[in-house]
Amino acid sequence: MMIPILAANAAVPHSSEKFSPTAAVGSRPPIPTGTLYIQGQAQLAGTVPISGAKNSALAILAGTLLTAEPCRIRNLPRLVDVQRMVAILEAMGVQATAEPDGVTVHSADLQGGSAPYDLVSQMRASFFVIGPVLARLGYAQIPLPGGCAIGARPVDLHVKGLQALGADVAIAGGIVEARCRRRDGRLQGASIYLDYPSVGATETLMMAATLAEGETTIENAAQEPEILDLAGLCRAMGAQITGDGTKTLRIQGVPTLHGTDYEILPDRVEAGTFMAAAALCRSVLTLTPVVPQHLGAPIAKLQEIGALVDILDDRTLRVDGRGAGRPTDIETLPYPGFPTDMQAQFMALLTLSEGNSTIQETVFENRMQHVAELCRMGAHIRVKGSVAVVTGVPALSGAPVTATDLRASAALVIAGLAAHGETQMQGLHHLDRGYDRLEEKLRAVGAHLERRP
Ligand code: EPZ
Repeated sequence: MMIPILAANAAVPHSSEKFSPTAAVGSRPPIPTGTLYIQGQAQLAGTVPISGAKNSALAILAGTLLTAEPCRIRNLPRLVDVQRMVAILEAMGVQATAEPDGVTVHSADLQGGSAPYDLVSQMRASFFVIGPVLARLGYAQIPLPGGCAIGARPVDLHVKGLQALGADVAIAGGIVEARCRRRDGRLQGASIYLDYPSVGATETLMMAATLAEGETTIENAAQEPEILDLAGLCRAMGAQITGDGTKTLRIQGVPTLHGTDYEILPDRVEAGTFMAAAALCRSVLTLTPVVPQHLGAPIAKLQEIGALVDILDDRTLRVDGRGAGRPTDIETLPYPGFPTDMQAQFMALLTLSEGNSTIQETVFENRMQHVAELCRMGAHIRVKGSVAVVTGVPALSGAPVTATDLRASAALVIAGLAAHGETQMQGLHHLDRGYDRLEEKLRAVGAHLERRP
């Protein structure tokens, strides 16, 4: 089924409309010239439905390549990045069939192990396919993912780990070519130490190790919830993985994996974005479904800031932002530390605190580009190296702003909701990459914002 990629400035499908993650291969979604008009002084109230996790969905779609049998993936978020990932799989010979809440992918005809440059270059996460393809076919040829606004985003840890698992890896002309050294084309279990608990490298190597001969250990592994979600998919396919969610992953390789039917976990970063919005707008929002234990750091910070956070049940939390306003200090760290993916949104929140806050970004080397845009709205933020000092101001003013990356776009939206006056935001393709119907969800709880071409 070939349906054009959802043009990012197209009307976002309502839940009643069928979302199709399958896409026409090779079609670049048009970069929208649209503008989002956000009315300030929003008073939010109600319950926000949280979608499936983007950063699980992309890795899990890659993980389905580990088997030649069909895999049904549920609770897939409606995102341009998901459509791009499905387009990449289709370009590699995978059959993708849209389902009411996701997609069924069938990679019986997985070809040659190479992915198309024009699609891979649009989305770094597409590099995740290298591990499964190499493990499945003994060979993979994947374009080197580009850097992006937030950093160089190298893949040296992925490459070193694949070499440890018995692959020869060459990088030339922007292409990563990996080939299993063993004559039978199978990877060999190994002990791997990651110099940094890289989420992507942990995912690449965990997937590759599921089909290797023997045991693989990954020390200093990432512990993010998305790692557990991917491990859950692999186990549902028959993989033998223990230690996911700890610093030491153990994978006992098996010869083949089978198909499965798997539901993606709720998106903690989307939830954190709405939590920051509730606190910034001094409003009360209920979020569901969520996994409260995945939100420990942002909940702690919101309580320091003066918001109340109640866990209503194992899938629901409520944020009462009416008492928010105290400053705090944030340092982004690998999970379970404060997530870098919530840094921009919490910086927007702290612009209206009564005092000075510091935010140190330790994960990416260039993830402060939203500072200039927030300052255009009247925020008082000074950056020195990886540290931003946020001096609270009494109010933000609506202004024309431009999103520079995915989470910066969300930060500017919530800043616009709290500002006095109207904010006009461009760079909407960033927003559509990672947020499932954000405008629709905000309007449903009282925000006034609309997208015009
Ligand atoms: C994943 O990116 C997420 N993306 C990111 O979310 C998230 O910010 C990041 O993990 C950290 O939590 C997806 O899951 C699709 P890393 P990833 O490898 O895997 C360095 C969002 O907004 N590094 O943990 O690319 C790297 O440069 C996105 O949703 C190496 O040096 O992140 C960075 O400084 C943004 N060599 C640090 O590690 C490597 O081989 C963390 O990167 C790999 C990474």
